[in-house]
Amino acid sequence: MSFLADCPCRPSIRSRTVWIQERCEELREHEEKAILVGLETNRPGDDIERSMEELELLAETAGAEVGARVTQKRDAPDPDNYIGKGKTEELSALVQMHDADMVIFNDELSPSQIRNLDQVIDAKVIDRTNLILDIFARRALSREGKLQVELAQMHYLLPRLIGLGNQLSRLGGGIGTRGPGETQLEVDRRVIRKRITDLKKEIKSLRKHRALHRQRRKRNRQNIVSLVGYTNAGKSTLLNALTGADLYTEDKLFATLDPTVRRGRLSGGKEVLFTDTVGFIEKLPEQLITAFQATLEELVAADILLHVVDLSHPEYLKQIEIVRSHLAVIDPDYYKHELLVFNKIDLVDDISEKSFLEREFPSASFISALTGEGLEELKENIADYLSNQRRNLKLYLPYSEGKLYSELQDHGDVQSVVTRPDHLEIIVDVDPALAKKLEPFTGS
Ligand code: GTP
Repeated sequence: MSFLADCPCRPSIRSRTVWIQERCEELREHEEKAILVGLETNRPGDDIERSMEELELLAETAGAEVGARVTQKRDAPDPDNYIGKGKTEELSALVQMHDADMVIFNDELSPSQIRNLDQVIDAKVIDRTNLILDIFARRALSREGKLQVELAQMHYLLPRLIGLGNQLSRLGGGIGTRGPGETQLEVDRRVIRKRITDLKKEIKSLRKHRALHRQRRKRNRQNIVSLVGYTNAGKSTLLNALTGADLYTEDKLFATLDPTVRRGRLSGGKEVLFTDTVGFIEKLPEQLITAFQATLEELVAADILLHVVDLSHPEYLKQIEIVRSHLAVIDPDYYKHELLVFNKIDLVDDISEKSFLEREFPSASFISALTGEGLEELKENIADYLSNQRRNLKLYLPYSEGKLYSELQDHGDVQSVVTRPDHLEIIVDVDPALAKKLEPFTGS
């Protein structure tokens, strides 16, 4: 959870990070009690029940126990307190009654809202963004994942230094770090900005590394299949089932935070690379979409996006929309290589629902990643999709293009070669990337 609100005086950002880590450790052992607060607006598509359910799951994923939920009907958040004044007082009493450690708000709060609420409520004030950041911070495994989360935390923290009160402003700036005439707040800001610059540099160099890996994979013409989907849809379970790998799967949100790449075989023996990505949710904080670009970048390179859907979830159609809206931002052409996979069919008895979906989404697969049902058909679907993507070309290849010819031999499916005085006439099946390269040689 966010503990910054009562973070004690510490001399540096580094100490603060250590302090946060220590609190995380403590949290693992001690469940804190939370009260959830949300607004019921008239915006089309808003469903307060569902949104609060998700917030509760997020809170539990962060290790909290939910004591009560409070909702209020309002057209827009109150600029001072998010909820109305009377409701804030009610909330304050509820905190006392439940002896709650924190209050979690279902939206991102402005710095002044945090400050105002902090003055009235005798518990930690946490917003949805901060909650997700804390979960991410605890779950990120790889070096890059950890850096990305820290970067997102710093971006979140920077405009909230005042909002987080005097405790934080007293922090930071040991001997030699304070410039002439700077207030403690300025020092804090400077330290955080410097950390942001350092983090960006380090991430950039790690990314370069990853881009090289991706290029190598492309050059080797290995097909990449990325699993995407709403959080808890069963992506990691499916990745395990397709590749035999033993990934971390858990019935909590965001079990997966780092892209994982595994080798697997399709029907017919073709080898492909599968990657698992972070799950999407509604209201994914802006900072995190940017921060997890590294994870999502894998998507752009993928030949297929396996969009995994939890068919047992009452709102699965809405979840499909949410995932698609995120995908469209990352890659406007995503739909060209999206394959829908309806998962958890072992939990669904309704046959009429399935026939409706088969009509609506004719190329979708229906599986249970847990029991293995439908997995063979899914592998066939993927193999078919990849082979349909291949193009049949007639080439007029000059003898000077020896290198390209050997690439064709290695990665294309050469059907015939006729020797002509100044070129080779070749009929070949190739994937789209190689077809593009060969375009200049397709005319006579
Ligand atoms: P995030 O990491 O949050 O994005 O989750 P994920 O999409 O990777 O989901 P994960 O594979 O961790 O599965 C979430 C939960 O659903 C786990 O408890 C799985 O055991 C369960 N699950 C996955 N597939 C199936 C299925 O086909 N049937 C049933 N009954 N449960 C499943």
